[in-house]
Amino acid sequence: MIEAESTELQINQSVDLKPYNSLAISAVAEYFCSVQNISQLESALAFANNNNLILTPIGGGSNLVIASDLTGLVLHIDLKGIEIISSDKETINIRFAAGENWHSSVTYCLENGCYGLENLALIPGDMGAAPIQNIGAYGVELCDFVHSVEVIERATGNLKRLSCDDCQFGYRTSVFKQTAKDSYVITAVTLTLNKTPKVNIDYPSLQTSLETDNPSPADIYQAVCHIRHSKLPDPQDIPNVGSFFKNPIVNKDVADTLAQNHPELPIYAYSPSQSKLAAAWLIEHCGFKGCRKGDVGVHDKQALVLVNYQGDGAAVLALAEEIKSVVLQTFAVELQVEPRIYGNLT
Ligand code: EPU
Repeated sequence: MIEAESTELQINQSVDLKPYNSLAISAVAEYFCSVQNISQLESALAFANNNNLILTPIGGGSNLVIASDLTGLVLHIDLKGIEIISSDKETINIRFAAGENWHSSVTYCLENGCYGLENLALIPGDMGAAPIQNIGAYGVELCDFVHSVEVIERATGNLKRLSCDDCQFGYRTSVFKQTAKDSYVITAVTLTLNKTPKVNIDYPSLQTSLETDNPSPADIYQAVCHIRHSKLPDPQDIPNVGSFFKNPIVNKDVADTLAQNHPELPIYAYSPSQSKLAAAWLIEHCGFKGCRKGDVGVHDKQALVLVNYQGDGAAVLALAEEIKSVVLQTFAVELQVEPRIYGNLT
């Protein structure tokens, strides 16, 4: 164990990453620390910078494929705290520290009369990871509620606040996956929520599972939990990182041709010139749904979800490559991996 300068930060060597590895791939961090406050975070950054170590910040680990042992410092963000920042007649701004669990935060908001996040119930992971891929489900995305995101700049240790516009959110993407990839560690997220219920029931499968035409936010929360429980495996039971691929965005003419040849393919409007295709449908119609290849496979209720029975990083990534290649050959559509992949195998 190494004591970093003048803080109580503990940095350990050769740490098993199992608790942070939703795919249960066996992997060890060269150095590992967990930070509970900003000064510990600053010390951890200084330790990585001074020793020229690769830094891998992690939250709950639910959207990471840790494909092999990691060199450098793995930094677990364990900052806690929920605070009301301001409110007016209609809305309330709540600041969540990056280490707050996402689903517990959704539940907290609903129980305290702050509405909007119900459709995002049960998404695994922590608050600090949510802006990176602009988490979304059942017709709602995180960016609909982001007021600002607080970060610490990795190179300088400077604290900054990014506005919702600064974050450049898009479908499962943000500045944190693009131009600012690896520039910042997210420390807190402030969300603007509604004080009066404003429900969103546009998503077809949500609509059909609701038992009333006039649902409350609590009805939506229950329905979303029910759908997710029935379709998506719990990583504790069957290791997985949720959707392994993004729904591909293609030009409208490509979507029109696909629709002519495959009238059942679900296609959603995305922008005036682009459409979004259901990747799960494409994968299912290449015969992968429910398949098992050695120690890895595809979930039998949601073809977008890869599951790991006992495989290693190479086995998971080989299956992902096979799916990509067969979907490309069959439909001429290129799938993109959605979780972040760490390790020496890519
Ligand atoms: N479908 C299939 N086969 C399947 C599953 C789905 O053909 O095995 C078809 C369904 O018929 C449906 C369409 O695909 O018409 C969409 O399916 P679903 O509603 O299950 O959503 P998805 O597009 O597959 C996305 C998100 C999920 C999110 C759900 C619900 C991405 C990459 N995935 O999946 O997010 O929970 O919508 O909003 O956008 C995640 O990101 O990890 C994740 C789970």
